[in-house]
Amino acid sequence: MKQTLFLLSLAFLSFSIAHGLNPNRCDLPNQGSTLQVFHVNSPCSPLRPPEAMSWEDTVLQLQEKDEARLQFLSSSLVAKKSVVPIASGRQILQSATYIVKVQIGTPSQSMFMAVDTSNDAAWVPCSGCVGCSSSVLFDSAKSTSFKSLDCQASQCTQKFQVSNPKCGGNTCTFNMTYGGSNLLANLSQDTFTLATDPIPGYTFGCIQTTTGTSLPPQGLLGLSRGPLSLLSQAQSLYQSTFSYCLPNFRSTNFSGSLRLGPVGQPKKIKYTPLLKNPRRSSLYYVNLIGIRVGSKIVDIPPSALAFNATTGAGTIFDSGTVYTRLVEPAYVAVRDAFRKRIGGSATVTSLGGFDTCYTVPIVAPTMTFMFDGMNVTLPQDNLLIHSTAGTTTCLAMASAPNNVNSVLNVIASMQQQNHRLLFDVPNSRLGVAREQCSS
Ligand SMILES: *[C@@H]1O[C@H](CO)[C@@H](O)[C@H](O)[C@H]1NC(C)=O
Ligand SMILES: *[C@@H]1O[C@H](CO)[C@@H](O)[C@H](O)[C@H]1NC(C)=O
Ligand SMILES: *[C@@H]1O[C@H](CO)[C@@H](O)[C@H](O)[C@H]1NC(C)=O
Ligand SMILES: *[C@@H]1O[C@H](CO)[C@@H](O)[C@H](O)[C@H]1NC(C)=O
Ligand SMILES: *[C@@H]1O[C@H](CO)[C@@H](O)[C@H](O)[C@H]1NC(C)=O
Repeated sequence: MKQTLFLLSLAFLSFSIAHGLNPNRCDLPNQGSTLQVFHVNSPCSPLRPPEAMSWEDTVLQLQEKDEARLQFLSSSLVAKKSVVPIASGRQILQSATYIVKVQIGTPSQSMFMAVDTSNDAAWVPCSGCVGCSSSVLFDSAKSTSFKSLDCQASQCTQKFQVSNPKCGGNTCTFNMTYGGSNLLANLSQDTFTLATDPIPGYTFGCIQTTTGTSLPPQGLLGLSRGPLSLLSQAQSLYQSTFSYCLPNFRSTNFSGSLRLGPVGQPKKIKYTPLLKNPRRSSLYYVNLIGIRVGSKIVDIPPSALAFNATTGAGTIFDSGTVYTRLVEPAYVAVRDAFRKRIGGSATVTSLGGFDTCYTVPIVAPTMTFMFDGMNVTLPQDNLLIHSTAGTTTCLAMASAPNNVNSVLNVIASMQQQNHRLLFDVPNSRLGVAREQCSS
Protein backbone atom coordinates (compact mmCIF):
# COMPACT_ATOMS: atom_id res chain seq x y z
CA MET A 1 0.00 0.00 0.00
CA LYS A 2 2.66 2.44 1.07
CA GLN A 3 4.71 1.50 -1.96
CA THR A 4 1.79 2.06 -4.33
CA LEU A 5 1.20 5.47 -2.85
CA PHE A 6 4.86 6.23 -3.17
CA LEU A 7 4.89 5.16 -6.82
CA LEU A 8 1.73 7.14 -7.50
CA SER A 9 3.15 10.29 -6.03
CA LEU A 10 6.40 9.70 -7.86
CA ALA A 11 4.46 9.38 -11.10
CA PHE A 12 2.56 12.55 -10.32
CA LEU A 13 5.78 14.34 -9.45
CA SER A 14 7.41 13.42 -12.75
CA PHE A 15 4.26 14.43 -14.59
CA SER A 16 4.29 17.76 -12.80
CA ILE A 17 7.97 18.35 -13.46
CA ALA A 18 7.57 17.40 -17.11
CA HIS A 19 4.78 19.95 -17.41
CA GLY A 20 6.64 22.59 -15.42
CA LEU A 21 3.83 22.71 -12.86
CA ASN A 22 5.43 21.33 -9.76
CA PRO A 23 2.77 22.28 -7.20
CA ASN A 24 5.38 22.42 -4.46
CA ARG A 25 7.26 25.12 -6.30
CA CYS A 26 4.09 27.18 -6.62
CA ASP A 27 3.09 26.87 -3.01
CA LEU A 28 6.18 26.52 -0.88
CA PRO A 29 5.44 26.58 2.86
CA ASN A 30 5.55 30.12 4.18
CA GLN A 31 8.68 31.00 6.07
CA GLY A 32 8.70 33.90 8.51
CA SER A 33 8.19 37.14 6.62
CA THR A 34 9.19 35.96 3.15
CA LEU A 35 6.68 35.60 0.31
CA GLN A 36 7.17 33.91 -3.03
CA VAL A 37 7.09 36.31 -5.98
CA PHE A 38 5.80 35.06 -9.32
CA HIS A 39 5.89 36.54 -12.75
CA VAL A 40 2.35 37.01 -13.98
CA ASN A 41 2.95 34.60 -16.89
CA SER A 42 4.56 31.89 -14.74
CA PRO A 43 2.84 28.47 -14.54
CA CYS A 44 2.33 29.26 -10.83
CA SER A 45 0.31 32.36 -11.68
CA PRO A 46 -3.47 32.13 -11.85
CA LEU A 47 -3.32 35.36 -13.86
CA ARG A 48 -1.36 33.92 -16.78
CA PRO A 49 -2.98 34.29 -20.19
CA PRO A 50 -5.07 31.23 -21.17
CA GLU A 51 -3.12 30.75 -24.36
CA ALA A 52 0.59 31.18 -24.72
CA MET A 53 1.26 34.30 -26.74
CA SER A 54 3.94 34.58 -29.35
CA TRP A 55 7.17 36.23 -28.28
CA GLU A 56 6.43 39.31 -30.38
CA ASP A 57 2.94 39.69 -28.92
CA THR A 58 4.26 39.34 -25.36
CA VAL A 59 6.91 41.97 -25.96
CA LEU A 60 4.49 44.36 -27.63
CA GLN A 61 1.90 43.90 -24.92
CA LEU A 62 4.38 44.55 -22.14
CA GLN A 63 5.53 47.68 -23.94
CA GLU A 64 1.99 49.02 -24.23
CA LYS A 65 1.46 48.33 -20.58
CA ASP A 66 4.62 50.31 -19.85
CA GLU A 67 3.28 53.32 -21.74
CA ALA A 68 0.27 53.40 -19.42
CA ARG A 69 2.58 52.88 -16.46
CA LEU A 70 4.79 55.80 -17.42
CA GLN A 71 1.72 57.96 -17.68
CA PHE A 72 0.70 56.92 -14.18
CA LEU A 73 4.20 57.57 -12.80
CA SER A 74 4.44 60.97 -14.45
CA SER A 75 0.94 62.14 -13.60
CA SER A 76 0.88 65.11 -11.27
CA LEU A 77 4.64 65.59 -11.58
CA VAL A 78 4.11 68.87 -13.33
CA ALA A 79 1.00 70.53 -12.05
CA LYS A 80 0.14 72.77 -14.97
CA LYS A 81 0.69 70.47 -17.93
CA SER A 82 -2.18 68.20 -18.73
CA VAL A 83 -1.48 64.53 -19.31
CA VAL A 84 -2.18 63.42 -22.84
CA PRO A 85 -3.92 60.06 -23.05
CA ILE A 86 -1.82 57.35 -24.59
CA ALA A 87 -2.57 56.99 -28.25
CA SER A 88 -3.39 53.35 -28.65
CA GLY A 89 -6.36 51.57 -30.09
CA ARG A 90 -5.35 48.26 -28.58
CA GLN A 91 -6.52 47.11 -25.20
CA ILE A 92 -4.05 46.62 -22.42
CA LEU A 93 -4.82 43.15 -21.17
CA GLN A 94 -2.54 42.66 -18.21
CA SER A 95 -1.09 45.11 -15.85
CA ALA A 96 0.44 43.20 -12.98
CA THR A 97 3.94 41.97 -13.70
CA TYR A 98 4.99 40.41 -10.42
CA ILE A 99 2.51 39.06 -7.93
CA VAL A 100 2.45 37.69 -4.38
CA LYS A 101 -0.21 35.63 -2.62
CA VAL A 102 -1.88 37.56 0.18
CA GLN A 103 -4.45 36.07 2.59
CA ILE A 104 -7.26 38.51 3.39
CA GLY A 105 -9.97 38.26 6.03
CA THR A 106 -11.20 35.68 8.55
CA PRO A 107 -11.35 32.92 7.37
CA SER A 108 -8.79 34.01 4.83
CA GLN A 109 -9.32 34.36 1.09
CA SER A 110 -6.26 34.21 -1.20
CA MET A 111 -5.60 37.02 -3.64
CA PHE A 112 -2.62 37.25 -6.00
CA MET A 113 -1.78 40.92 -5.70
CA ALA A 114 0.65 42.94 -7.81
CA VAL A 115 3.73 44.19 -5.99
CA ASP A 116 4.05 47.88 -6.69
CA THR A 117 6.87 50.00 -5.29
CA SER A 118 5.39 53.17 -6.75
CA ASN A 119 1.92 52.94 -5.22
CA ASP A 120 1.00 53.65 -1.66
CA ALA A 121 -2.42 52.13 -1.13
CA ALA A 122 -3.59 48.54 -1.48
CA TRP A 123 -6.75 47.65 -3.38
CA VAL A 124 -8.63 44.49 -4.09
CA PRO A 125 -11.61 43.73 -6.37
CA CYS A 126 -14.60 43.06 -4.12
CA SER A 127 -17.79 41.07 -4.60
CA GLY A 128 -20.34 42.99 -6.61
CA CYS A 129 -17.62 44.92 -8.43
CA VAL A 130 -18.84 46.43 -11.67
CA GLY A 131 -16.23 46.17 -14.41
CA CYS A 132 -13.62 44.06 -12.60
CA SER A 133 -11.97 41.59 -14.96
CA SER A 134 -11.23 38.94 -12.34
CA SER A 135 -13.52 36.04 -11.46
CA VAL A 136 -11.76 35.87 -8.10
CA LEU A 137 -13.19 38.62 -5.93
CA PHE A 138 -12.83 39.29 -2.23
CA ASP A 139 -16.15 38.56 -0.55
CA SER A 140 -16.25 40.91 2.40
CA ALA A 141 -19.55 39.44 3.64
CA LYS A 142 -17.75 36.16 4.34
CA SER A 143 -15.10 37.74 6.53
CA THR A 144 -15.85 38.27 10.22
CA SER A 145 -13.00 40.79 10.58
CA PHE A 146 -14.03 43.03 7.65
CA LYS A 147 -15.01 46.62 8.32
CA SER A 148 -15.91 49.55 6.04
CA LEU A 149 -14.48 52.87 7.18
CA ASP A 150 -16.84 55.74 7.68
CA CYS A 151 -16.16 59.37 6.96
CA GLN A 152 -14.96 60.09 10.49
CA ALA A 153 -12.11 57.58 10.29
CA SER A 154 -8.71 59.25 10.43
CA GLN A 155 -7.62 57.39 7.26
CA CYS A 156 -10.46 59.11 5.43
CA THR A 157 -8.92 62.51 6.02
CA GLN A 158 -5.46 61.48 4.82
CA LYS A 159 -4.20 62.53 1.43
CA PHE A 160 -2.57 59.70 -0.42
CA GLN A 161 -0.78 60.00 -3.70
CA VAL A 162 -2.99 61.08 -6.56
CA SER A 163 -6.37 60.69 -4.89
CA ASN A 164 -8.12 62.06 -1.85
CA PRO A 165 -10.74 60.03 -0.04
CA LYS A 166 -14.28 61.38 -0.26
CA CYS A 167 -17.52 60.77 1.50
CA GLY A 168 -20.21 58.77 -0.29
CA GLY A 169 -23.23 58.40 1.95
CA ASN A 170 -21.41 57.65 5.17
CA THR A 171 -18.86 55.42 3.44
CA CYS A 172 -15.37 56.70 2.79
CA THR A 173 -14.50 56.14 -0.87
CA PHE A 174 -11.62 56.97 -3.13
CA ASN A 175 -11.47 57.39 -6.85
CA MET A 176 -8.23 57.08 -8.73
CA THR A 177 -6.75 56.64 -12.16
CA TYR A 178 -4.23 53.89 -12.75
CA GLY A 179 -2.80 53.57 -16.21
CA GLY A 180 -5.76 53.84 -18.55
CA SER A 181 -8.20 52.69 -15.89
CA ASN A 182 -10.28 54.37 -13.26
CA LEU A 183 -11.33 52.76 -10.00
CA LEU A 184 -13.77 53.62 -7.26
CA ALA A 185 -13.27 51.82 -3.97
CA ASN A 186 -14.66 51.83 -0.44
CA LEU A 187 -11.96 52.45 2.13
CA SER A 188 -12.08 49.31 4.27
CA GLN A 189 -10.15 47.30 6.83
CA ASP A 190 -9.44 43.62 7.31
CA THR A 191 -6.65 41.29 8.38
CA PHE A 192 -3.94 40.88 5.73
CA THR A 193 -1.73 37.86 6.31
CA LEU A 194 1.64 38.10 4.59
CA ALA A 195 3.56 34.81 4.75
CA THR A 196 3.16 33.96 8.46
CA ASP A 197 2.46 37.52 9.66
CA PRO A 198 -1.14 38.53 10.34
CA ILE A 199 -1.65 42.31 10.15
CA PRO A 200 -5.04 43.09 11.70
CA GLY A 201 -7.02 46.12 10.55
CA TYR A 202 -5.13 46.67 7.32
CA THR A 203 -6.62 49.63 5.46
CA PHE A 204 -7.29 49.00 1.76
CA GLY A 205 -9.65 49.91 -1.03
CA CYS A 206 -12.48 47.47 -1.71
CA ILE A 207 -13.11 48.12 -5.41
CA GLN A 208 -16.75 48.73 -6.36
CA THR A 209 -16.38 49.96 -9.92
CA THR A 210 -13.64 50.03 -12.53
CA THR A 211 -13.38 51.18 -16.09
CA GLY A 212 -10.62 50.17 -18.48
CA THR A 213 -8.57 47.02 -18.46
CA SER A 214 -5.22 47.98 -16.98
CA LEU A 215 -5.83 47.17 -13.31
CA PRO A 216 -4.06 44.14 -11.85
CA PRO A 217 -6.89 41.55 -11.83
CA GLN A 218 -6.63 40.48 -8.18
CA GLY A 219 -5.52 43.76 -6.68
CA LEU A 220 -2.37 45.62 -5.82
CA LEU A 221 -0.15 45.88 -2.77
CA GLY A 222 1.50 49.28 -2.49
CA LEU A 223 5.10 49.25 -1.22
CA SER A 224 5.92 52.92 -1.64
CA ARG A 225 6.50 55.42 1.14
CA GLY A 226 3.01 56.94 1.30
CA PRO A 227 0.85 57.01 4.45
CA LEU A 228 -1.35 54.06 3.48
CA SER A 229 1.41 51.81 2.17
CA LEU A 230 2.46 48.52 3.72
CA LEU A 231 5.53 50.29 5.11
CA SER A 232 3.42 52.77 7.04
CA GLN A 233 0.74 50.31 8.13
CA ALA A 234 3.17 47.63 9.29
CA GLN A 235 5.81 50.05 10.52
CA SER A 236 6.29 48.36 13.89
CA LEU A 237 6.51 44.90 12.31
CA TYR A 238 8.76 45.62 9.32
CA GLN A 239 10.40 48.93 10.21
CA SER A 240 10.06 50.24 6.65
CA THR A 241 12.54 47.68 5.37
CA PHE A 242 12.02 45.12 2.63
CA SER A 243 13.87 43.45 -0.20
CA TYR A 244 12.92 41.48 -3.26
CA CYS A 245 14.44 39.40 -6.00
CA LEU A 246 12.40 39.24 -9.20
CA PRO A 247 12.65 36.03 -11.23
CA ASN A 248 13.51 36.17 -14.92
CA PHE A 249 10.29 36.56 -16.88
CA ARG A 250 11.28 33.83 -19.32
CA SER A 251 11.86 31.33 -16.52
CA THR A 252 8.88 29.14 -15.79
CA ASN A 253 10.52 27.13 -13.04
CA PHE A 254 11.39 29.56 -10.33
CA SER A 255 9.86 32.11 -8.08
CA GLY A 256 11.56 35.10 -6.56
CA SER A 257 11.03 36.36 -3.05
CA LEU A 258 9.77 39.38 -1.16
CA ARG A 259 11.37 39.56 2.29
CA LEU A 260 9.67 41.95 4.70
CA GLY A 261 11.43 43.54 7.67
CA PRO A 262 15.07 43.89 8.69
CA VAL A 263 15.58 40.22 9.64
CA GLY A 264 17.51 38.10 7.14
CA GLN A 265 18.45 40.93 4.81
CA PRO A 266 21.81 40.74 3.02
CA LYS A 267 24.75 42.25 4.84
CA LYS A 268 27.10 42.43 1.88
CA ILE A 269 25.36 44.78 -0.51
CA LYS A 270 26.21 48.05 -2.27
CA TYR A 271 24.07 51.06 -1.44
CA THR A 272 23.05 54.33 -3.00
CA PRO A 273 21.15 57.03 -1.09
CA LEU A 274 17.37 57.17 -1.53
CA LEU A 275 16.10 60.63 -2.37
CA LYS A 276 12.70 62.10 -1.71
CA ASN A 277 11.15 64.30 -4.34
CA PRO A 278 8.40 66.54 -2.96
CA ARG A 279 6.60 66.30 -6.31
CA ARG A 280 6.05 62.58 -5.74
CA SER A 281 7.24 61.90 -2.22
CA SER A 282 6.28 58.24 -2.26
CA LEU A 283 8.46 57.23 -5.25
CA TYR A 284 11.92 55.75 -4.68
CA TYR A 285 14.23 58.28 -6.30
CA VAL A 286 17.98 57.71 -6.54
CA ASN A 287 20.80 59.74 -8.01
CA LEU A 288 21.83 58.28 -11.39
CA ILE A 289 25.11 59.99 -12.26
CA GLY A 290 26.01 58.35 -15.53
CA ILE A 291 25.88 55.26 -17.73
CA ARG A 292 28.82 53.30 -19.06
CA VAL A 293 28.62 51.18 -22.20
CA GLY A 294 31.54 48.80 -22.16
CA SER A 295 34.32 50.78 -20.48
CA LYS A 296 33.31 54.14 -21.91
CA ILE A 297 31.16 56.65 -20.03
CA VAL A 298 28.39 57.85 -22.34
CA ASP A 299 28.18 61.58 -22.95
CA ILE A 300 24.71 62.37 -21.55
CA PRO A 301 23.50 65.95 -21.02
CA PRO A 302 23.58 66.38 -17.19
CA SER A 303 20.04 67.84 -17.21
CA ALA A 304 18.70 64.50 -18.50
CA LEU A 305 19.75 62.74 -15.30
CA ALA A 306 19.58 65.54 -12.73
CA PHE A 307 17.28 65.29 -9.75
CA ASN A 308 15.05 68.34 -9.63
CA ALA A 309 12.52 68.88 -6.87
CA THR A 310 10.76 71.61 -8.85
CA THR A 311 10.01 69.55 -11.93
CA GLY A 312 10.00 66.07 -10.38
CA ALA A 313 12.85 65.08 -12.69
CA GLY A 314 15.23 62.30 -11.73
CA THR A 315 15.53 58.52 -11.64
CA ILE A 316 13.36 56.02 -9.82
CA PHE A 317 13.43 52.27 -9.26
CA ASP A 318 10.03 50.76 -10.08
CA SER A 319 8.76 47.18 -9.86
CA GLY A 320 5.77 47.79 -12.13
CA THR A 321 7.46 49.00 -15.32
CA VAL A 322 8.96 46.20 -17.42
CA TYR A 323 11.60 47.89 -19.60
CA THR A 324 13.87 50.68 -18.43
CA ARG A 325 12.95 54.07 -19.86
CA LEU A 326 15.32 56.99 -20.10
CA VAL A 327 14.36 60.50 -21.11
CA GLU A 328 15.06 60.96 -24.79
CA PRO A 329 18.47 62.70 -24.76
CA ALA A 330 19.82 60.08 -22.32
CA TYR A 331 18.32 57.15 -24.20
CA VAL A 332 19.56 58.33 -27.59
CA ALA A 333 23.11 58.77 -26.27
CA VAL A 334 23.14 55.32 -24.62
CA ARG A 335 21.59 53.60 -27.62
CA ASP A 336 24.04 55.22 -30.03
CA ALA A 337 26.98 54.12 -27.86
CA PHE A 338 25.54 50.60 -27.73
CA ARG A 339 25.05 50.46 -31.51
CA LYS A 340 28.56 51.77 -32.08
CA ARG A 341 29.99 48.96 -29.94
CA ILE A 342 28.05 46.34 -31.89
CA GLY A 343 29.65 47.65 -35.05
CA GLY A 344 28.51 49.03 -38.35
CA SER A 345 28.11 45.83 -40.30
CA ALA A 346 25.06 44.57 -38.37
CA THR A 347 21.78 46.08 -39.60
CA VAL A 348 19.64 47.68 -36.92
CA THR A 349 15.94 46.89 -37.04
CA SER A 350 13.06 47.70 -34.71
CA LEU A 351 10.32 45.82 -32.92
CA GLY A 352 7.42 47.83 -31.53
CA GLY A 353 8.95 50.44 -29.26
CA PHE A 354 12.42 48.88 -29.36
CA ASP A 355 14.59 50.61 -31.90
CA THR A 356 17.80 48.64 -31.49
CA CYS A 357 17.22 45.08 -32.65
CA TYR A 358 19.41 42.72 -34.64
CA THR A 359 18.60 39.65 -36.67
CA VAL A 360 22.19 38.42 -36.71
CA PRO A 361 24.07 37.13 -33.65
CA ILE A 362 25.72 39.99 -31.76
CA VAL A 363 28.27 40.36 -29.00
CA ALA A 364 26.80 43.02 -26.76
CA PRO A 365 28.85 45.30 -24.52
CA THR A 366 28.12 45.42 -20.78
CA MET A 367 26.19 48.36 -19.43
CA THR A 368 26.87 49.98 -16.06
CA PHE A 369 24.44 52.26 -14.28
CA MET A 370 26.52 54.60 -12.15
CA PHE A 371 24.65 55.76 -9.07
CA ASP A 372 25.91 57.88 -6.22
CA GLY A 373 28.18 55.42 -4.34
CA MET A 374 27.18 52.32 -6.34
CA ASN A 375 27.88 51.01 -9.84
CA VAL A 376 25.58 48.29 -11.15
CA THR A 377 26.87 46.38 -14.16
CA LEU A 378 24.10 44.53 -15.93
CA PRO A 379 24.70 41.09 -17.39
CA GLN A 380 23.35 40.38 -20.88
CA ASP A 381 20.22 38.70 -19.49
CA ASN A 382 19.15 42.04 -18.03
CA LEU A 383 19.97 43.96 -21.15
CA LEU A 384 18.83 41.95 -24.13
CA ILE A 385 15.69 40.09 -25.06
CA HIS A 386 15.89 37.26 -27.55
CA SER A 387 13.01 35.94 -29.60
CA THR A 388 11.94 32.38 -28.89
CA ALA A 389 13.33 31.28 -32.23
CA GLY A 390 16.56 33.09 -31.43
CA THR A 391 16.48 35.13 -34.62
CA THR A 392 15.88 38.58 -33.14
CA THR A 393 17.71 40.27 -30.28
CA CYS A 394 16.72 43.69 -28.95
CA LEU A 395 18.20 46.12 -26.48
CA ALA A 396 15.46 45.95 -23.83
CA MET A 397 15.26 49.66 -23.09
CA ALA A 398 13.44 52.57 -24.64
CA SER A 399 13.01 56.28 -24.63
CA ALA A 400 10.44 57.66 -22.19
CA PRO A 401 7.28 58.44 -24.14
CA ASN A 402 7.20 61.98 -25.39
CA ASN A 403 3.49 62.44 -24.90
CA VAL A 404 3.72 62.59 -21.12
CA ASN A 405 5.63 64.95 -18.90
CA SER A 406 8.85 63.27 -19.77
CA VAL A 407 11.27 63.97 -16.95
CA LEU A 408 11.53 60.56 -15.23
CA ASN A 409 14.09 57.85 -15.82
CA VAL A 410 12.68 54.53 -14.66
CA ILE A 411 14.88 51.55 -13.78
CA ALA A 412 12.43 48.75 -14.53
CA SER A 413 11.92 45.09 -13.64
CA MET A 414 13.70 43.55 -16.66
CA GLN A 415 16.86 45.33 -15.53
CA GLN A 416 16.27 44.35 -11.87
CA GLN A 417 15.61 40.64 -12.29
CA ASN A 418 18.03 38.25 -10.60
CA HIS A 419 19.23 41.03 -8.32
CA ARG A 420 18.23 41.61 -4.72
CA LEU A 421 16.97 45.12 -4.13
CA LEU A 422 16.98 46.18 -0.51
CA PHE A 423 14.83 49.17 0.41
CA ASP A 424 16.23 50.47 3.68
CA VAL A 425 14.00 53.48 4.27
CA PRO A 426 15.08 54.25 7.88
CA ASN A 427 18.64 54.71 6.62
CA SER A 428 17.48 56.32 3.34
CA ARG A 429 19.33 53.91 1.12
CA LEU A 430 18.71 51.36 -1.61
CA GLY A 431 20.95 48.31 -1.89
CA VAL A 432 21.55 46.21 -5.00
CA ALA A 433 23.31 42.83 -5.20
CA ARG A 434 23.36 40.06 -7.81
CA GLU A 435 21.26 37.06 -6.77
CA GLN A 436 20.30 34.21 -9.06
CA CYS A 437 16.69 33.70 -7.95
CA SER A 438 15.76 32.15 -11.30
CA SER A 439 17.52 30.72 -14.28
C1 LIG B 1 -14.00 59.39 -10.61
O1 LIG B 1 -13.07 60.19 -11.35
C2 LIG B 1 -13.33 60.21 -12.75
C3 LIG B 1 -12.20 60.96 -13.42
O2 LIG B 1 -11.83 62.10 -12.71
C4 LIG B 1 -14.71 60.83 -12.99
O3 LIG B 1 -14.98 60.83 -14.37
C5 LIG B 1 -15.75 60.03 -12.24
O4 LIG B 1 -17.01 60.65 -12.37
C6 LIG B 1 -15.40 59.91 -10.77
N1 LIG B 1 -16.36 59.03 -10.14
C7 LIG B 1 -16.87 59.27 -8.95
C8 LIG B 1 -17.89 58.28 -8.48
O5 LIG B 1 -16.55 60.20 -8.26
C1 LIG C 1 -19.36 50.25 -0.64
O1 LIG C 1 -20.14 51.02 0.24
C2 LIG C 1 -21.50 51.16 -0.19
C3 LIG C 1 -22.18 52.15 0.77
O2 LIG C 1 -22.02 51.72 2.11
C4 LIG C 1 -22.16 49.81 -0.19
O3 LIG C 1 -23.47 49.93 -0.67
C5 LIG C 1 -21.37 48.89 -1.13
O4 LIG C 1 -21.89 47.59 -1.08
C6 LIG C 1 -19.93 48.85 -0.72
N1 LIG C 1 -19.19 48.11 -1.74
C7 LIG C 1 -18.30 47.20 -1.43
C8 LIG C 1 -17.62 46.54 -2.61
O5 LIG C 1 -17.97 46.92 -0.29
C1 LIG D 1 12.84 23.64 -15.57
O1 LIG D 1 13.13 22.45 -14.87
C2 LIG D 1 13.24 21.32 -15.70
C3 LIG D 1 13.39 20.09 -14.82
O2 LIG D 1 14.22 20.33 -13.74
C4 LIG D 1 14.42 21.50 -16.66
O3 LIG D 1 14.54 20.38 -17.52
C5 LIG D 1 14.17 22.76 -17.49
O4 LIG D 1 15.27 23.03 -18.31
C6 LIG D 1 13.93 23.96 -16.59
N1 LIG D 1 13.52 25.11 -17.39
C7 LIG D 1 14.04 26.33 -17.23
C8 LIG D 1 13.50 27.37 -18.14
O5 LIG D 1 14.90 26.59 -16.42
C1 LIG E 1 14.90 72.64 -11.83
O1 LIG E 1 14.13 72.93 -12.96
C2 LIG E 1 13.71 74.28 -13.02
C3 LIG E 1 12.71 74.42 -14.17
O2 LIG E 1 13.23 73.87 -15.35
C4 LIG E 1 14.96 75.15 -13.19
O3 LIG E 1 14.57 76.51 -13.25
C5 LIG E 1 15.88 74.91 -12.00
O4 LIG E 1 17.09 75.62 -12.20
C6 LIG E 1 16.19 73.44 -11.83
N1 LIG E 1 16.89 73.24 -10.57
C7 LIG E 1 18.04 72.61 -10.49
C8 LIG E 1 18.61 72.46 -9.12
O5 LIG E 1 18.62 72.18 -11.46
C1 LIG F 1 31.90 53.71 -10.83
O1 LIG F 1 32.58 53.69 -12.06
C2 LIG F 1 33.25 54.92 -12.34
C3 LIG F 1 33.79 54.88 -13.77
O2 LIG F 1 34.40 53.68 -14.05
C4 LIG F 1 34.35 55.13 -11.30
O3 LIG F 1 35.01 56.35 -11.54
C5 LIG F 1 33.67 55.19 -9.92
O4 LIG F 1 34.64 55.34 -8.92
C6 LIG F 1 32.84 53.96 -9.67
N1 LIG F 1 32.06 54.17 -8.46
C7 LIG F 1 32.01 53.28 -7.48
C8 LIG F 1 31.15 53.63 -6.32
O5 LIG F 1 32.61 52.21 -7.53
